[in-house]
Amino acid sequence: MTKDDVIFITGATAGFGEACARKFAKDGAKLILLGRRKERLEKLAMELGCPTHLLPIDIRDRAKLEQVVRELPKDFKNVTLLLNNAGLGLGMGPAHQANIDDWETMIATNITALTTLTRLMLPGMVERKHGHVINMSSTAASYPYPGGNVYGATKAFVTQFSLNLRADLLGTGVRVTSIEPGMCLTEFSEVRFKGDKKAADDVYRGMKPLSAQDIAETIYWCANQPAHVNINRIELMPTAQTFAFFAVHRKES
Ligand SMILES: NC(=O)c1ccc[n+]([C@@H]2O[C@H](COP(=O)([O-])OP(=O)(O)OC[C@H]3O[C@@H](n4cnc5c(N)ncnc54)[C@H](OP(=O)(O)O)[C@@H]3O)[C@@H](O)[C@H]2O)c1
Repeated sequence: MTKDDVIFITGATAGFGEACARKFAKDGAKLILLGRRKERLEKLAMELGCPTHLLPIDIRDRAKLEQVVRELPKDFKNVTLLLNNAGLGLGMGPAHQANIDDWETMIATNITALTTLTRLMLPGMVERKHGHVINMSSTAASYPYPGGNVYGATKAFVTQFSLNLRADLLGTGVRVTSIEPGMCLTEFSEVRFKGDKKAADDVYRGMKPLSAQDIAETIYWCANQPAHVNINRIELMPTAQTFAFFAVHRKES
């Protein structure tokens, strides 16, 4: 990327988003950084040493999102890369015991906000015949697991939305990529287990997960391919994570 690029990163206060901000800042690109925790955005911006525009908002607030996009400063208007990363999992219980508010939060964040922001940014990219949308999906999009229910379904949406965007954007020069990681050590599990540090730590006990830096390197590689190359999907996992047999419920003999 170059100093002329404008990179819009959602979920920049932690994990992948923050790691991507640090990675892309090294090229001197202009960064739009979105997340609810204002102090974290301000601290990060101070450390980055590249031009930044901070959006300390809740991405689920559609009116606010429309307003901040409408009011982007002149130097930040022509977004070349949209990294739709803000998202979360909440809860790991079975569907019949899940909290419906948790489901609504995941759908509002991982699906509704992501599609809204994409819709707001696409016209400019299409008009300029230049742009890249990178969506943060997950291995949960393709592989079900107990307790994955709505989280996995939101990520399946993100992957399929990405592929369908590719179909719509044919001939526009705008690229779309779906990133589908397995287990990564970020604040993700702490959020999922609502601050239960022990439950979060147990997820990664005795194995080496991917790091936010690994994901940032992958995203950076996708973004830096020549204009005629579109990476559709990338699925990556820690070497220590793989697939299991189908589960079978057997009657007592
Ligand atoms: N870690 C993994 O194992 C893993 C694997 C596959 C996919 N993913 C996906 O990767 C993405 C990033 O996850 P992460 O691992 O980096 O998690 P993280 O460390 O918890 O970071 C999540 C980011 O999303 C932001 N966010 C959440 N809700 C928001 C809202 N309503 N408005 C604005 N920002 C919001 C958070 O910012 P604020 O709290 O400050 O608002 C934070 O910056 C997510 O979409 C996640 O589903 C993660």
